[in-house]
Amino acid sequence: MHASQKSLRFVLISISLLIAGFLFITPGFAENGAEAPGHLRCEYLTNPTGIDVPQPRFQWVLANSRRGEMQTAYQVLVASTPEKLERDRGDVWDSGKVASGDSAQVVYHGKPLVSGHTYYWKVRAWDTQGNSGAYSQPSRFGMGLLERADWKGQWIGGDGLLRKEFGLPGKVVRARAYVTALGYYELHINGKKIGDKVLDPAWTVYPKRVLYSTYDVTSALQDGPNAVGVMLGGGWATQGAGGPPEYKAPALLFQMNIEMADGKTVSVSSDTSWKTAAGPVVSDSVYDGDVYDARLEKPDWDRPGFNDAAWAPARQEKGTAGALSAEMMPPIRVTDTLVPRSMTNPEPGVYIYDFGQNFAGWARLRVRGPRGAKVRLRFSELIYSNGMINRQNLRSAKARDIYILKGSGLEKYEPHFTYHGFRYVELTGYPGTPSLDTLRGRVVNSAVEATGSFVASKEILNQIQHVIRWGQLSNLHSIPTDCDQRDERQGWMGDAQVTAEEAMMNFDMAAFYTNFVRDIRDAQKPDGEIPDTVPYKYGRYPADPAWGTAYPLICWYMWQQYGDKRILQENYDGLKKYEEFLRTRAKDNVLRYSYYGDWIAIKHTPGALVSDSYFYYDTRILSDVAKVLGKTGDAEAYAKLAGEIKDAFNKAFFNAETGEYANGTQTAQAMPLFLDLVPQKERGGVMGKLYNNIVYEHNTHVTTGFIGVKYLLPVLTRDGHSDLAYELATQTTYPSWGYMISKGATTLWELWQDKIGPSMNSHDHIMLGSIGSWFYRALGGINLGADGEGYRHILVEPRLVEDLHWASASIETVRGKVSCSWKHRTGAISMEVTIPANSDARIVVPEEEDMTTVTVREGDHVVWENGKFVPGDPGITAATARASAIEFSAGSGYYHFLLTGE
Ligand code: BGC
Repeated sequence: MHASQKSLRFVLISISLLIAGFLFITPGFAENGAEAPGHLRCEYLTNPTGIDVPQPRFQWVLANSRRGEMQTAYQVLVASTPEKLERDRGDVWDSGKVASGDSAQVVYHGKPLVSGHTYYWKVRAWDTQGNSGAYSQPSRFGMGLLERADWKGQWIGGDGLLRKEFGLPGKVVRARAYVTALGYYELHINGKKIGDKVLDPAWTVYPKRVLYSTYDVTSALQDGPNAVGVMLGGGWATQGAGGPPEYKAPALLFQMNIEMADGKTVSVSSDTSWKTAAGPVVSDSVYDGDVYDARLEKPDWDRPGFNDAAWAPARQEKGTAGALSAEMMPPIRVTDTLVPRSMTNPEPGVYIYDFGQNFAGWARLRVRGPRGAKVRLRFSELIYSNGMINRQNLRSAKARDIYILKGSGLEKYEPHFTYHGFRYVELTGYPGTPSLDTLRGRVVNSAVEATGSFVASKEILNQIQHVIRWGQLSNLHSIPTDCDQRDERQGWMGDAQVTAEEAMMNFDMAAFYTNFVRDIRDAQKPDGEIPDTVPYKYGRYPADPAWGTAYPLICWYMWQQYGDKRILQENYDGLKKYEEFLRTRAKDNVLRYSYYGDWIAIKHTPGALVSDSYFYYDTRILSDVAKVLGKTGDAEAYAKLAGEIKDAFNKAFFNAETGEYANGTQTAQAMPLFLDLVPQKERGGVMGKLYNNIVYEHNTHVTTGFIGVKYLLPVLTRDGHSDLAYELATQTTYPSWGYMISKGATTLWELWQDKIGPSMNSHDHIMLGSIGSWFYRALGGINLGADGEGYRHILVEPRLVEDLHWASASIETVRGKVSCSWKHRTGAISMEVTIPANSDARIVVPEEEDMTTVTVREGDHVVWENGKFVPGDPGITAATARASAIEFSAGSGYYHFLLTGE
């Protein structure tokens, strides 16, 4: 070999070694540095198209599963173009390296964000050792229309269909459509429906605020002639509910801004140059359903070139003077499609479909037949033994959709502006013989993401979890509703407040409740009063205190579950006003007014006790909120007031001789215990009474309404009676959750009783689903640690109970996944725990009660032996013995504990 060849070989080998080294080093580098953050969110949303928050908040998750991993710093870049971001240029905001552990609620501090613009952002993090990691994948957020003046057009109305044609001279590079309605709209451009939202916009307090949606319509537009078509429905705006309708007719407000390749911009807005005509939706109503006459369809009405000479000019409508806000929450969508389980034919021409599951939505119909044939779909939750549907509990809601065929081959129909709560569908008027394929169930709800899971070895618990999830989803229709089927479906605040925690564990509710809390604020009167239902239709002003408490409580849960400080800031004045309003109604610090109290209780508790408990609760929360916001003076003043309310409460309701509050019901005992209203020296006695009431007086059954039950199981668990709480949770005779299931419930009932008559008895209420949070906390063991807002500090503490052999829970928190799965067999408890990066935890590994010598291993390490912590296991920094448990202090990571003992 020549010398030159030799040196070439040397060079080649060196290069390949270098490449190999580089390839090798790259993953090694990631091993040492922080990994690229994932799961990027802006205002809790993934790549939102239109937000109107001047200083949006960012959030990311550090995927790193290493032990004890903490973010020590971050850097956020926000750029005006994807290219700049790619080159690591944050021309709109470069946070620089910020020494901080925050990975959620990080507030934008860049240049003012411009109406209608899209921004691109990414983030990187520094790990515990101070190594910087790679940047995340890029994410984006679009700004909505920030000023009222950005809307060039006017509110218009018409006869169902509205259309507008316009020409575009050239190629479109970017286009956004902003749409809102009083009522519901369906947007079409050039023959296609835009987006997958249905029943949009969200139902809000219209005189104060309507929500608009922002659509990226760039690819829907074309060089040359274009057409926009909008179908309008009445929705809640024109629906009489609990009173007269708010508006006579639906109205549309539309703005489309189009950027052309040559740099020009074109604006298309709603005005009276739009044309209108009646469409195929002959009538629509949320309660009653749609009537759709396909013969009245106007083929190609939403395409350019359609002859609209006979159409009338659109009418100008008053619309609302309320604010136009960006819709920043999961939209209502079709979230699932169900195949019917069976079809029966109980009478000639009557076909009954059973979907096997109660849910909110509608049925999709497939039919062939003669023009003018009228197919009727009627919906019900219940069925009679003769196989016919039972609609007695729908009250005045007609809950039916009617489809009139155009007679042109296969016709497919779904309603446009209604939804129903049902398990069964009655089909009549079908031309020919239908089959199982004639109908599909379309599940429709606010499309919140599932973030939690809970399963356990006791089947009844899984069944309850199943009905909670379905019940919760069917009661999310841009507001949390009480029910989904009868002539109600309202934002009853009592129902909302008791279920908010359960909902936040099962689903990502952050954006949803952010909106709902705004609705509450919009509904608040200047003197601080808030109503029973939001938007206000049913009930009264001021709310029953157990309903009004939704305002402080949901704000507080937002802080606890998501670390949301902004909601506390934005609502501080509102919360204070509400508190001060309650004070004006309290006499000698006791708040007695009440309308519903412990609603649907089996044993009645005086409403005054319930109201006054919440007066105390609200005051304490306000004090805590003030503390978080650094308002020390208020924090102290309200803490002092809370103390006075507590004393007055005990004077008013506690009987020291009997150890009972008021009439001694489960609710009367459980609420004061839960809220720490009970003087310390009386606690044992009060709990003893509660225990006896449950076990001896009611043979281990609940007798509370939906207020008391929220506190009953948690307080039993807290005071060492997890077994009793578990017995209540798994009870199968009346009254219990298991009883509903034994009677075939697939969503939770409104009443503990099994009723199917015309009285109030919805079979899809979610309020008794509050037990869901107890599943996660007590059995799944996932709890917030002290001052652990947003799961910054976590307490993992599952309770061993009776015949439960294993349980497994996980929650996708703002910081990442927290999970706990445990198994128990005699003499051994195994427990797998995941703590996300950037959090720390106290992990309580339970022992059997009578165990004496206990050893705990984590993976291959012994971490507890001879009554002492054995250091050395990475991530675990300390351990202490507690009553029947060993508690470990740990950082992030996945841990597998095995506790053995005799
Ligand atoms: C609703 C309840 C609500 C209650 C107020 C009922 O009609 O369905 O869930 O909270 O009224 O008492």
